[in-house]
Amino acid sequence: MPDEAVSKEQFDSLHNSAKQAADLILETVESHKLVHVVSHLDADGLAGAGIVGKALARLGASFRIRIERWLDEKNIDSIAADKPALTVFTDLGSGNLDILNAQLADNHLIILDHHQTTEEANPEFVHVNPHLHGIDGSRDLSGAGVAYLVAKALNEVNIDLAQIAVIGALGDMQDKYESRALGGANEIIVEDAETAGNLQTETDLMLFGRETRPIHKALAYTTVPFIPDLSGQEDRSVAFLARIGITPKKGDRWRVLRDLSEEEKKKLCSALADHFASKGLSGNIALNLIGRVYTLSHEEPWTPLRDAREFSVLLNSTGRMGRAGVGVSICMGDRSAALEEAGKVLDEYRRTITKYLSWLTEKPGRIEELTNIYVAHGQGMIDDKMIGTISSLLSTNIPNLEKPLIAYSAIQGEEFAKFSARTIDLLVEKGLNLGEILKIAAEKYSCRGGGHNIAAGAQVPVKNVDAFIKLVNRLVKQQLEGKPIEG
Ligand code: C5P
Ligand code: C5P
Ligand code: ZN
Repeated sequence: MPDEAVSKEQFDSLHNSAKQAADLILETVESHKLVHVVSHLDADGLAGAGIVGKALARLGASFRIRIERWLDEKNIDSIAADKPALTVFTDLGSGNLDILNAQLADNHLIILDHHQTTEEANPEFVHVNPHLHGIDGSRDLSGAGVAYLVAKALNEVNIDLAQIAVIGALGDMQDKYESRALGGANEIIVEDAETAGNLQTETDLMLFGRETRPIHKALAYTTVPFIPDLSGQEDRSVAFLARIGITPKKGDRWRVLRDLSEEEKKKLCSALADHFASKGLSGNIALNLIGRVYTLSHEEPWTPLRDAREFSVLLNSTGRMGRAGVGVSICMGDRSAALEEAGKVLDEYRRTITKYLSWLTEKPGRIEELTNIYVAHGQGMIDDKMIGTISSLLSTNIPNLEKPLIAYSAIQGEEFAKFSARTIDLLVEKGLNLGEILKIAAEKYSCRGGGHNIAAGAQVPVKNVDAFIKLVNRLVKQQLEGKPIEG
């Protein structure tokens, strides 16, 4: 468990930086100029865009939101071509200061991000990032969290958006404190959401849809951790519950997780531990299913918005399936057409994940163990927008997690492959920093990489894929041995 909370000085200094961003937004809005918001396509990015969008809408501002897979020279060029009066980046930007400094030097820019950064931002830009204030951005504050601090600095009424920042942090898997709780600066945001009456927290079994779904569905819908044979498989989940003697119905009504007695919950947990063990995985993975539950009190039961983790998966699904606009609308409060659409996207996303995971495990060699890393060879089979999700799922699902995992797939219509790397806390504590490794390895092939210590990505020319993998394999070893790394 991380033991250092965020100090008052650190938080105040971050807050001052958020205030500067709020002032620049207000100034732009008051002069009736258009604000451009650019954000990342995952749950945290969409939550961040939704928060800034809602705060701007409340100011009566004109604004436009654009969602990107990543930033590079090409898309920054196209942003510059719009000649925006002000561009606000959320969950993006800190890892790309070189190109922002070079290509947008004459623009008003606000960067609200939590990625690692190696460069100084142009002093004209407002750069709000927890790392600049001694706060760990990979664990203690998400991109949506930074966006929320700015929204709250704009107007206290935006405290009713705090739960959206909680969803962003959970989407980025920042629940790393005891019992899978959020901590650090995130905790302050959780408290805001509770104060506003929009969030309730408790410790319990964390199956998906714990208040709302029949237990076999809740099992099948749980993908973090990924439960082999049960995640995505309702029939097998029914059989599993029958085998361990948990009655699925009371009278005509399906029982939900909260209907189970303490004894039944214990029985379910130990059966899951045995199940992981029977698949060659550590039984301890089942312990990850007990922890802090974040419930959005005002969301309807039976919707995927009630449980904050489930909400984050829904957002992720819209971004990864090319329907980011739907996710942003939901964060901004749309509960009609957008919600219905998101339900369909979520179903499609689950089917797609099952298809990709079966494909990867169907033939030996598609997931390969090297001396220091695992490699999932998505080749051209996996959509590049989904590779991050697949990498996250695989990394919770491979035995002997002492090695990081990188997954990649060719990007349709481009000469690049998209890489997504994931590791576990234990290796981060031993000094592994995937963001640094992917950045250095990518630079060797004149391309881009970076991210967080625990999760990072890169876009690499297809012709260099094998060499890149070899280099990452070598750099992981060097870094874990405490040696300086270079390409
Ligand atoms: O760009 P951003 O910071 O939002 O993305 C971080 C990504 O890394 C998310 O997609 C998140 O799910 C993933 N992640 C992960 N495992 C972790 C931490 C983050 O898969 N332990
Ligand atoms: O794309 P993926 O989910 O694997 O990204 C993991 C993390 O690395 C995200 O936070 C993403 O924003 C970051 N990343 C980056 N530079 C890249 C690719 C990904 O900072 N070139
Ligand atoms: Zn993020």
